[in-house]
Amino acid sequence: MPGSVENLLKVTMGLDSASVGPTVVRQAVRERMTACRIAEPEAYWEILNGSPQELQELINAVVVPETWFFRDREAFAALSRYARVHKRANQPIKILSLPCSTGEEPYSVAMAMFDAGFGPQEFKIDAVDISTRNLAIAEREVYGRNSFRGSSLEFKDRYFEAVEGGLQPNTAVLKQVRFRAGNLFDFQASSFGPGGYDVLLCRNLLIYFDRELQDRALVCLKGLLTSDGLLLVGPAESALPRLHGFASAEWPMAFAFLKSNRVQTGTRAIPLSSPTRTPSAPKPKTKVVPPVGREEQLQTTAQLLDQITESLKTIERIANAGRVKEAQEVAREHLKQFGPSAELFYLLGLAQDAEGAAPEAVQNYRKALYLAPSHQEALTHLALLLRKQGDLNGAEALTGRLGRIRKGSGT
Ligand SMILES: C[S@@+](CC[C@H](N)C(=O)[O-])C[C@H]1O[C@@H](n2cnc3c(N)ncnc32)[C@H](O)[C@@H]1O
Repeated sequence: MPGSVENLLKVTMGLDSASVGPTVVRQAVRERMTACRIAEPEAYWEILNGSPQELQELINAVVVPETWFFRDREAFAALSRYARVHKRANQPIKILSLPCSTGEEPYSVAMAMFDAGFGPQEFKIDAVDISTRNLAIAEREVYGRNSFRGSSLEFKDRYFEAVEGGLQPNTAVLKQVRFRAGNLFDFQASSFGPGGYDVLLCRNLLIYFDRELQDRALVCLKGLLTSDGLLLVGPAESALPRLHGFASAEWPMAFAFLKSNRVQTGTRAIPLSSPTRTPSAPKPKTKVVPPVGREEQLQTTAQLLDQITESLKTIERIANAGRVKEAQEVAREHLKQFGPSAELFYLLGLAQDAEGAAPEAVQNYRKALYLAPSHQEALTHLALLLRKQGDLNGAEALTGRLGRIRKGSGT
């Protein structure tokens, strides 16, 4: 039976069970059979096929809800910048967070828009997720420490109030977002109404689909956007939009793409960032001279660090634009020129991951972790890839390590 369940989940919600590992689906089925007090797999299969409610419960049990406030922070800067450029009189900017999981993403959008100077009438946020369990958590509006990760958490003081059980976004933020259950593949049936969205965040969902469903998903996403709308995806998903005619917004680490290719010529479509130079292989800006005294030595080291940082940014920028092959070439050049670093191996792994070169990506994530054992992004992406490859023990070990690191750092 589990084979049939896996297929049903794929057809219904796009889930490629290999991406979460077969035990996740099996465990979810066991959990639901216990809840329904059913011992026979065949009997459960029958119920599952005859009851949309039970199918929903199974979906709730199988989804990965992982999210936090301002995840990939640059995406929110890109979003508010795009919104400023596309601001219209008498018509709010329409934003969709799909999937929104437990609400951290759409609320982060509201905070970013307020920070960018928008008033409450000037933008609207719709938030959709297939999991009614996640939506119930979102509607509780109370968030614990796991939702606040990283070190830039100043927004907590400005937008949250302490309540029993955690922190609650203030009324102004809460008012900007409306939630609804919906399926990316069946969005018309569950949507908020006609009219395209100016901005669509579809982050960290496509990684759970196989290639064919990723393509179908991209077609759905395109249909939901206005003619020059902005699409934001997750870091390991950045190769996909270009395959469907989107143009990179060239905004480092935002994973942002424009539906129209008219970025340079259109009337409304204006590049998000000031024109950037075409990224090329990193070249040292200044010649590194042999050190003479202590001061010169320090200066030389600082110059070298600047060059390394600039070169890594270039690799990020190219990968972010979806040019994943080129990003790998530039990363290899960087390795020759500057030697190994955790960040370089992480970026190389990410570009290979986005291209579907899983074994190479695993190797490079591992190298990053060898040099920086607490590299959280490398840990997260490696765990996901190992799970996809069926190495569940390996994935679990990394997830445990990640949990311990987050606890230790108070994030
Ligand atoms: C890992 S979370 C990503 C949340 C958020 N976008 C982020 O990046 O932090 C994935 C979410 O996708 C939802 N999901 C899975 N399949 C879906 C589908 N077909 N349509 C809508 N939501 C889906 C899950 O319920 C889960 O909440």
